[in-house]
Amino acid sequence: MSLPKILSCHLILMLSAFTGAANGYYNSNWFRCIHSSRDLSDMVFVLNYVFNKDVFIQFNSTVGEFVGYTELGVHNAELWNKDPNLLQQWRAQKDVYCHHNAEIRQSAIADKTVPPEVKLSSVTQASGRHPAMLMCSAYNFYPHQIQVSWMRNGKVVQSDVTSTEEMPNGDWYYQIHSHLEYTPKSGEKISCAVDHAGLTKPIIVDWDPSLPEAERNKIAIGASGLVLGIIIAAAGLIYYKKKSTGRILVPS
Ligand SMILES: *[C@@H]1O[C@H](CO)[C@@H](O)[C@H](O)[C@H]1NC(C)=O
Repeated sequence: MSLPKILSCHLILMLSAFTGAANGYYNSNWFRCIHSSRDLSDMVFVLNYVFNKDVFIQFNSTVGEFVGYTELGVHNAELWNKDPNLLQQWRAQKDVYCHHNAEIRQSAIADKTVPPEVKLSSVTQASGRHPAMLMCSAYNFYPHQIQVSWMRNGKVVQSDVTSTEEMPNGDWYYQIHSHLEYTPKSGEKISCAVDHAGLTKPIIVDWDPSLPEAERNKIAIGASGLVLGIIIAAAGLIYYKKKSTGRILVPS
């Protein structure tokens, strides 16, 4: 995603509704700070006077004075533009209000990074003519920009890869899942590489083609059960033999 980052903050100064005959009328004044560069050099301060949805007066820091868009707006803009103190006050807001707050938000939010946790798992195992599918998941990272790639014997794999978008968890963190379809070959090494602003070097996880832990546990439990069964059966057999021989040796 390479959309320019637009950080803006709004402050509603006043919102009042006058009840008309059928619908309400809405008058609102709000201002907004807009910038997309890290050094805040492209900061613009915009103050809007809005009636219902129409802006009737605007102060834009790039323009440097009020502009009216309706008869009332033009009248007031002309009046306010004649007041040097008022103009100076609004011209200063770009620095006083916008820069000041943007610096705080930049260091408290935008500059923060949280590196992802990476998990590599098998989605489907190869069977017959169907290829196997692996999933590489990255969890709980911020910001959303991330790079997930697959490697086969150290070389980047381009085909048979599908990836989700970065998905917001709703708690400021993101997750992403990338799938690789492949036909397993013995001796090859499949890895998932994840790079993110919060990491000093990419996380590389190698796929372990031996049975996953859950499968290993099932086999271990099954084997233990079998051994236990054999022991109990053997014990029972020995007991039975001893009893029956005892009966022969000591007749009642
Ligand atoms: C502010 O004014 C500049 C110069 O006219 C313009 O390019 C920019 O789009 C305006 N910004 C807004 C939010 O209206």
